[in-house]
Amino acid sequence: MALITLRQLLDHAAERGYGVPAFNINNMEQGLAIMEAAAAVDAPVIIQASRGARSYANDIMLAKMIDALEEMYPQIPLCLHQDHGNEESTCATALQHGFTSVMMDGSLMADAKTPASYQYNVDITRRVVDMAHWIGASVEGELGVLGSLEHGGGEQEDGHGVEGEISHDQLLTDPDQAVDFVRSTKVDALAIAMGTSHGAYKFSRKPDGDILAMRVVEEIHHRLPNTHLVMHGSSSVPQPLQDAFNQFGGEMPQTWGVPVEEIVRGIKHGVRKINIDTDCRLAMTAAFRKVATQSRSEFDPRKFLKPAMDGLRDLCRERFEQFGTAGHASQIKVVPLAEMARRYRSSALDPQIGGIADAAE
Ligand code: G3H
Ligand code: 13P
Ligand code: ZN
Repeated sequence: MALITLRQLLDHAAERGYGVPAFNINNMEQGLAIMEAAAAVDAPVIIQASRGARSYANDIMLAKMIDALEEMYPQIPLCLHQDHGNEESTCATALQHGFTSVMMDGSLMADAKTPASYQYNVDITRRVVDMAHWIGASVEGELGVLGSLEHGGGEQEDGHGVEGEISHDQLLTDPDQAVDFVRSTKVDALAIAMGTSHGAYKFSRKPDGDILAMRVVEEIHHRLPNTHLVMHGSSSVPQPLQDAFNQFGGEMPQTWGVPVEEIVRGIKHGVRKINIDTDCRLAMTAAFRKVATQSRSEFDPRKFLKPAMDGLRDLCRERFEQFGTAGHASQIKVVPLAEMARRYRSSALDPQIGGIADAAE
């Protein structure tokens, strides 16, 4: 089966009212674990690679690995997405390597630290949309800056994210601006800011509406009912994983992530793509720590990696089930890129028209 575009997959998810987790990967073990989980529950998959992942694994290695996963799991529609593209060239080279979707994150400048102006964001996102749609690939844009409503700061845990303190206005996507942004750029999906941030340290307490502003999701969905919304920073940082990590020598201070029930609420209000990396990292490293602590003479990396893959597989499966993704892979007949390109050229997929990419068989 050919790779699916983000647009076709999220159109299907919108028609049927489910959400799709987007898992970050950097290596073969993560790819295998995610696909194993998807195959077990018949879920379509979004695998995303950050700029860091692309330089860690190498574009050629990543592309060949995705080819292999496609061949191993021909029944699972698989979307390969660039996470947080910082400039046009990042998105262009992703497309050259077979990605079927890119995120142009124009909420920040190319340094991935400095908040960008609205006009800069519109212009660069529109240019990436023009480029990607010519070949039928999809584009996710971002409006608003990810960061904490508790302390007004972005996250630097992964070496990207806004630097310094920013205002509440910048940390919450403005619904009126969202309407203008989607119309002006023609993005296929819109990432919004409502208090989530990347990494493990999102909230210092179980989040309520003051620090996780789900009302912003609802308001934007009300104004843009045909636009697929994306929640970044959506790891739940589950207590059992924190405990497992700390039980075997880890030192993770108590923290709170985005509760799964809030994500499920988001899915009822137009959230279709849910970005999860931290939980995947934690599931794997908690398993490494257990082996390292309990089997101190062990030096075969596979003895560490196999339980880590099992931990990641279980986490992914749980999210596929919680978000309603399970059971949908077999309903999707992948539309080839060339046909998606034709539909964009005929304006059939304009977001304001709410075109649906004819996802189901
Ligand atoms: O966008 C955030 C993801 O967690 C990717 O992190 O840049 O360290 O690969 P990374
Ligand atoms: P988490 O750090 O919450 O997993 O978020 C990942 C993400 O948003 C990647 O773009
Ligand atoms: Zn993100």
